[in-house]
Amino acid sequence: MSQTTIESILQEKRLFSPPAEFSQQAYVRSVREYEQLYDKAKANPERFWAELAEQELDWFQKWDTVLDWQPPFAKWFVNGKINISFNCLDRHLTTWRKNKAALIWEGEPGDSRTLTYAQLHREVCQFANTMKQLGVQKGDRVGIYMPMIPEAAIAMLACARIGAPHSVVFGGFSAEALKDRLVDAQAKLVITADGGYRKDNIIPLKEQVDRALADNGVPSVQNVLVVQRTKQQIHMEPGRDHWWHDLQQGASADCPAEPMDSEDLLFILYTSGSTGTPKGVVHTTGGYNLYTHMTTKWLFDLKDTDVYWCTADVGWITGHSYIVYGPLSNGATSLMYEGVPRPSNPGCFWDVIEKYGVNIFYTAPTAIRTFIKMGEHLPKARDLSSLRLLGTVGEPINPEAWVWYHRIIGNERCPIVDTWWQTETGGHMIAPFPGAIPTKPGSATRPFPGIIADVVDLDGNPVSGEEGGYLVIKHPWPGMLRNVYGNPERYRSTYWEHIAPRDGQYFYFAGDGARKDEDGYFWVMGRVDDVISVSGHRLGTMEVESALVSHPSVAEAAVVGKPDEVMGESIFAFVTLEGNYSPSDTLIDELKKHVVKEIGAIARPGEIRFTDALPKTRSGKIMRRLLRNIAAGQEVAGDTSTLEDRSVLDKLRGGA
Ligand code: WTA
Repeated sequence: MSQTTIESILQEKRLFSPPAEFSQQAYVRSVREYEQLYDKAKANPERFWAELAEQELDWFQKWDTVLDWQPPFAKWFVNGKINISFNCLDRHLTTWRKNKAALIWEGEPGDSRTLTYAQLHREVCQFANTMKQLGVQKGDRVGIYMPMIPEAAIAMLACARIGAPHSVVFGGFSAEALKDRLVDAQAKLVITADGGYRKDNIIPLKEQVDRALADNGVPSVQNVLVVQRTKQQIHMEPGRDHWWHDLQQGASADCPAEPMDSEDLLFILYTSGSTGTPKGVVHTTGGYNLYTHMTTKWLFDLKDTDVYWCTADVGWITGHSYIVYGPLSNGATSLMYEGVPRPSNPGCFWDVIEKYGVNIFYTAPTAIRTFIKMGEHLPKARDLSSLRLLGTVGEPINPEAWVWYHRIIGNERCPIVDTWWQTETGGHMIAPFPGAIPTKPGSATRPFPGIIADVVDLDGNPVSGEEGGYLVIKHPWPGMLRNVYGNPERYRSTYWEHIAPRDGQYFYFAGDGARKDEDGYFWVMGRVDDVISVSGHRLGTMEVESALVSHPSVAEAAVVGKPDEVMGESIFAFVTLEGNYSPSDTLIDELKKHVVKEIGAIARPGEIRFTDALPKTRSGKIMRRLLRNIAAGQEVAGDTSTLEDRSVLDKLRGGA
């Protein structure tokens, strides 16, 4: 995050109380009610979660132990039997919600579709049977590489229904990135589409799948199911590839939901960390269902009459938890939109809100900053009066963007719910209850009941004051990740060992820096590790460095985030070349393309600077702090005495 953003956050003192009309109808109406809930959960978290699990979800068989905590491994609702697809679909069919819109979908070229709960249930059952016919069984992993179309949600729910864990890979990732993830998950089936609309182009999803699977690249994959979306010519491999519509047509709609153990694997979702390849974050069934259900209900104050819209892509955790599972478990109407704002259609979000009368809108700071640039005349030309709550997620929101969102989009009537959480946490962790908690622009405010959050130093001691510390969670919660797929050691070292456990107290290390103010409000300041956030998308600097180094011209690469007004951060790469290559603009272009091929367009470096050496300590460690300063065009701050060769710095500043 840029220095000016941090400064403006530090100086922020404004307080916005929830509008009285909102509080009156909210589930939680005052700070006092919030604190009662919070204290109740803190006094006995297990009882708190058990009561909610009983009230809010349908179980085939009740658990016998609420929490089995063998740090750092947790099991929730042990021996309980449940199916999240049942909770998202079947149980609503016996109520008036049967013919309520479950999914409203707005397609990119202007098509649209609405699926009621009964219709969605039918499609999910048919698709579950289709997968069974292809030999997919409980426990088999299924890769999903799809555009934002209803079939993506149908595929996820069908997987959950038969107990085949899904691993959704964002459609913007390259064939290489897809392959790595499918190999790690050992997927048996891949579900994709011929193509997807993205901005004003078509992305060739099926072609990328073909590339990922070429030369037996992912030996575990037996079949590929293809949705026809863009209708361009694609290759269909006989015996391996099948059209979704061909198989779906004849499939039976009778497919009872498989009773799953509460701790059975629900999905794997890959996310970047500071080291190595992306980690497969493991989420299981019962706890995740409860956690996404409760956070959706309370933090979005979700009512049966609401049209709710989360603008994320299903390829990210936000799409999993807050387009599909959380809203549908609550029987809500969840809107899915295939498009993204772009110069050729800058007002598209506001058109969608007006067209469907959206009541709850959940988006990212990077989108808000883009809207600010596009101008307030666009939202002002639409009727946004249906909105009653605005959410944000993905990165710290700068107070200017917060206030713009509040004024221009919310017309000062809508509480702003800034939600801090992560792929690993399953659902929202720190966020204001919209009818209860007065908000401060830039702060995610206070933790959800049952979440014991703190800001500590590396010894685990709470820290106060403006310099802040590390954001940690001190008690397990139902939505937490259970493991890193196939790598429990990595799970332990990434999340539970940065701050050593003491006296039986374990600290979940989020990787974010934060501070807590005198009112107990949390201010998340951004990552403290080598993860950068480009338009709210998490990327490990090491992943981008590995991609660069895999090009024959590159000897060494160091990647840092450069503050960017709209994207939050952009990728800045310092590169040293192999002896027989010389710097040129053509090579810069080639290297950028190479990174896109290796990872995907989201990882395209904004800038590449050639240098003949990188600043290193005497022990050979790259001093990223200095590189961050240089990338940002700032004076090099702090101690440089450990630098091995000081002349490197001057050369870097000038660009070698
Ligand atoms: C950042 C996205 C400040 C944070 C749900 C976290 C935020 C990372 C916020 C997780 C927020 C997310 N305020 N920072 N409201 N929300 N972050 O796994 O750095 O894609 O660690 O999950 O995004 O990103 P992930």
